[in-house]
Amino acid sequence: MASVMFKQVTKRFGQVSVIEGLDLEVRDHEFMVLVGPSGCGKSTALRMIAGLEDITGGTISIGDRVVNEIPPKDRDVAMVFQSYALYPHMTVRENLEFGLRIRKTPRAEIDRLVPEAAHILGIQELMERKPKELSGGQRQRVALGRAIVRKPSVFLFDEPLSNLDAKLRVEVRAEIKKLQARLQTTTVYVTHDQVEAMTMGHRIAILNAGKLQQVGAPLEVYEKPANLFVAGFIGTPPMNLIRGTLGSGGVARTSGFELPVPAAARGAATEGTKVVLGIRPENVVPPGRPPRGQSHRLALTVEIVEVLGDEVVVHGRAGEETLVFKQDPHLPAVVGSTIEVQLELDALHLFDAESERRLGA
Ligand SMILES: Nc1ncnc2c1ncn2[C@@H]1O[C@H](COP(=O)(O)OP(=O)(O)OP(=O)(O)O)[C@@H](O)[C@H]1O
Ligand SMILES: [Mg+2]
Repeated sequence: MASVMFKQVTKRFGQVSVIEGLDLEVRDHEFMVLVGPSGCGKSTALRMIAGLEDITGGTISIGDRVVNEIPPKDRDVAMVFQSYALYPHMTVRENLEFGLRIRKTPRAEIDRLVPEAAHILGIQELMERKPKELSGGQRQRVALGRAIVRKPSVFLFDEPLSNLDAKLRVEVRAEIKKLQARLQTTTVYVTHDQVEAMTMGHRIAILNAGKLQQVGAPLEVYEKPANLFVAGFIGTPPMNLIRGTLGSGGVARTSGFELPVPAAARGAATEGTKVVLGIRPENVVPPGRPPRGQSHRLALTVEIVEVLGDEVVVHGRAGEETLVFKQDPHLPAVVGSTIEVQLELDALHLFDAESERRLGA
């Protein structure tokens, strides 16, 4: 097993810069998720580890070896794609054996490794079928089998669940997580789905427009987003983000309300600073639940009510600002009515409107 290290990695396609100065360490045994919106460079970063794209600048190391000039087949990584990439004319067994055979693995070894991988993934009954005779979930299991059978140092996953329906996605997600916990193989997993990132990764690395925004454990990133991009990207419904100005005594003024901002959230920001206030929906507390810590009362006019079943998502307006929060579905939330909420002040996030960076601790 091995770590994966990006040092000042850049990637250009012609004149177009796709990855800029990427520094990132994926530790030995770690499950690292690379997450970000479409086109931000996730697949490119992954393909550079695999050797499917060359590296314009900087170095990538696997273990203690710089791999920039090492051909893909000698990097000891296994990649699983969204499209499964199984050989259609081969049976499941042949698909699993193929990677071993081209590496000249002895027959006895193949006959030990393939059934072992099939057993781990529960695909023993499918061994003589062709890919077209399998469901999407089964195909993806075979693709996983083909990766694990080689016992590589690093697993690389590029959106492996995107072709599965919602229910199956949750199932296979749990399977991949269990598989990695069992095998302990260093893993880099790419997705644009922040829920997948949060639930699967030991740590997550958030990319936007080719630049690393933040790396941390899921909860760390959720509770202390380093900038506005991360704040808005991680969490559903997303964090409420409201523009304002810091006034005297640490009071933030917005077009809808005024709010005392605790010193810890303000950091070194001074009076007059243009800011963006961030407050997650769960920290806008409707009647019926006591707020945690200090809070600030605010009357909201209900504009939209979205019933999800276990909860309702309410959009409420104060002046020109809208705040989204969640409420028990059995409590009334009638469009046009007024609800008095409590904003939990200890959970406020404050960002500099210009640099977009987090201001407080
Ligand atoms: N071979 C190529 N030539 C030119 N530009 C490319 C090439 N491959 C990727 N790009 C560009 O590089 C950028 C990053 O692409 P990449 O596939 O890494 O994004 P991604 O984060 O994986 O997106 P998605 O979530 O849509 O898969 C995109 O703007 C894309 O158009
Ligand atoms: Mg991609």
